Amino acid sequence: MKTVFIDCSPKKRLSASGFIMGLTGLFVFGKKKKEKLRTPADHERIMSELADADNVVFSMPLYVDGVPSHLLPFLKKTEMFCLDKNKDLNVYVIANNGFIEGKQNEPLMRIMENFCDRSGIKWCGGLGIGGGVMMNVMRILLIVFLGIALLRTLLSGVSEGILFPAWPWIIYGKQILEVLALGCGIIVFDIWLAICINSKKEYGKHYTRIMLPSFIFILCADIFFTIISVFQGGIFRGWFSRKKPT
Ligand SMILES: Cc1cc2nc3c(=O)[nH]c(=O)nc-3n(C[C@H](O)[C@H](O)[C@H](O)COP(=O)(O)O)c2cc1C
Repeated sequence: MKTVFIDCSPKKRLSASGFIMGLTGLFVFGKKKKEKLRTPADHERIMSELADADNVVFSMPLYVDGVPSHLLPFLKKTEMFCLDKNKDLNVYVIANNGFIEGKQNEPLMRIMENFCDRSGIKWCGGLGIGGGVMMNVMRILLIVFLGIALLRTLLSGVSEGILFPAWPWIIYGKQILEVLALGCGIIVFDIWLAICINSKKEYGKHYTRIMLPSFIFILCADIFFTIISVFQGGIFRGWFSRKKPT
């Protein structure tokens, strides 16, 4: 069984789509091929991987309540390819979005379902994840916490002469558990998706989110975007950025 995973985020690195795709890949057995779809130059390479694939997993961000526009020409080519070759392919989708509710991905799921219908391939369902950007925050936090644990170990060695103190690592263990608790919905639904891919079964449509109360999420998002706009411009470019729009 061969499964092709396609990270459809236009971001070169650190995409939430790539992260969740990698996580899913851990639980999928058989031959796996991970691909990145950003430009038309990627089309032929991915299409050749699809030729002998049994499953394809599209992992993508929600853009304006739909699929990112750079994906549309690829879907068109895939439709022609599948009709031409009478291809038998199971299609799974993982979508993540900026707002907290995973249900926002419903129109995207319908677009992908229609694509499968037109292409004569099998729509097996999808997972919609709300608060996708928090997945990046989670992995950054884990690295920052690891750095703090190492620093505490070093300081404890210098000040108390204890080479390997247990307490920084007990704290780090608790922090890992807290981060995992935030992502528990994503992890459970993701493993379930992987089980369906392994058995080539239909998954249906499921929606989950980061397990953070909405009012905290919104507060964090406001702070995040304010900082981003101060340093790089962005959504509040006109208000805060030193770089004024031309
Ligand atoms: C052009 C654009 C349009 C977006 N539209 C939506 C949207 O309609 N709804 C939403 O919840 N998030 C929207 N987002 C946020 C992304 O879905 C979100 O940041 C996502 O986590 C990015 O995933 P990635 O890191 O895999 O690219 C949009 C982002 C961009 C850049």
